Amino acid sequence: MEAINKILRENNQEHLIKYLEKVDNDKKEKLIKEIENIDFEQLKELYQTSTRNIDKAIEGVIIEHVPFVDKYKLEEDKYKSIEKIGIDTIKAGKYAVVTMAGGQGTRLGHNGPKGTFKLEIKPEAKYLFQIIAENLQRENEKYNIILPWYIMTSTENNEKTVEFFEEHNYFGYSKENVMFFNQANLPLLSEKGKILIDENYDLKLASDGNGSIFKSMKKEGVLDDMRKRGVQWIFIGAVDNALLNMCDPILLGLTIQDNNEIGSKSVVKANPHERVGVFCKKDNKPAVIEYTELPEEMAEETDEEGELLFGESHIMCNLFSLRALEKIAEQKLPYHSAHKKANYIDENGNLVKATKPNAYKYEAFIFDGFNYFDNISILRGRREEDFAPIKNAEGIDSPETAIKLYNSYWKL
Ligand code: UTP
Repeated sequence: MEAINKILRENNQEHLIKYLEKVDNDKKEKLIKEIENIDFEQLKELYQTSTRNIDKAIEGVIIEHVPFVDKYKLEEDKYKSIEKIGIDTIKAGKYAVVTMAGGQGTRLGHNGPKGTFKLEIKPEAKYLFQIIAENLQRENEKYNIILPWYIMTSTENNEKTVEFFEEHNYFGYSKENVMFFNQANLPLLSEKGKILIDENYDLKLASDGNGSIFKSMKKEGVLDDMRKRGVQWIFIGAVDNALLNMCDPILLGLTIQDNNEIGSKSVVKANPHERVGVFCKKDNKPAVIEYTELPEEMAEETDEEGELLFGESHIMCNLFSLRALEKIAEQKLPYHSAHKKANYIDENGNLVKATKPNAYKYEAFIFDGFNYFDNISILRGRREEDFAPIKNAEGIDSPETAIKLYNSYWKL
């Protein structure tokens, strides 16, 4: 106990001693283990970034337009030859799909992993995981293969996700080709930089963002498994896009033909001020700049044809070579802080229910992995074919808007 108390005092977290004194021995042991796993130096650095002025985020950084290819403006011959490269690669068993499902889905507010949300589409309602499973099976039939399917979960939702798949018999997908892996966690910090405790007297932890995927794939043996299976190209998509096209041979063929290690699908921004991240080059490296960081005049800037210079939205449809994933897994991606509402137990044992943002959560973003390459192949798709996000309970990017897009795409 003394050693732990010393660590806590040295790191300005001595309030945790009070919780340790309150709980029974089993709980105490568990809490001590959790505390021992904390990288306090990292936490200190993260806390210092929390209050960073967002307006200064791109100070001194050169932001430039990055070229893209419009899928529907490709000449027929070119389209066909690119498509063939993609199809041949998929048929040769060199392609795999990853679904990122480790998020908390706080905005949607569904009780359970986001993939277990049922979307009331026609002709019958389907779970988000089911939509993905069925789409992949359609691709499997088309190419006469079985795509290895990896699903990233968090410690918070892993058990429920696996149970859900078991309960639904993997929606007919061959079980030996579905692999779950957990992503990492980080503690939530109060506005004063103190680690919070949850209702079970555990550290209040949260998944550390979808950029956690690179190191998690390495740590959990996913990259090794891919190598063993002969996989060379990996599509990584979000669980919450009802029109996610996981197997576009044009994106794959284009990236291979361009001799790039990374590729990504975009759709053009609905308007200059849509709240989405857009592709750009930051200091000459491919990047995504968040809408909060893009100065207004740049958001509105157009080329001579009237196209927005920063108009290609990042829609979480990313393609990586295995080599690229291995390379990024060795890097330390930056963390971004988000000011969020978090309920917690105070030092007197009372539950504090947050009514406004009161804590910092730290997340790495998948697109920060682009920074380790000189170029990226960006393929502009179409919103009505590629993007039906489910983020909010109602209004923009909600089940209601996703249902409309889904039904209209499938002509239901
Ligand atoms: P979002 O950033 O939209 O987050 O995730 P979210 O968790 O779904 O929703 P909010 O912000 O709490 O309302 C985009 C994709 O990244 C995954 C999500 O599951 C989703 O597929 N993700 C996000 C992770 O896999 N892990 C994370 O830590 C965060």
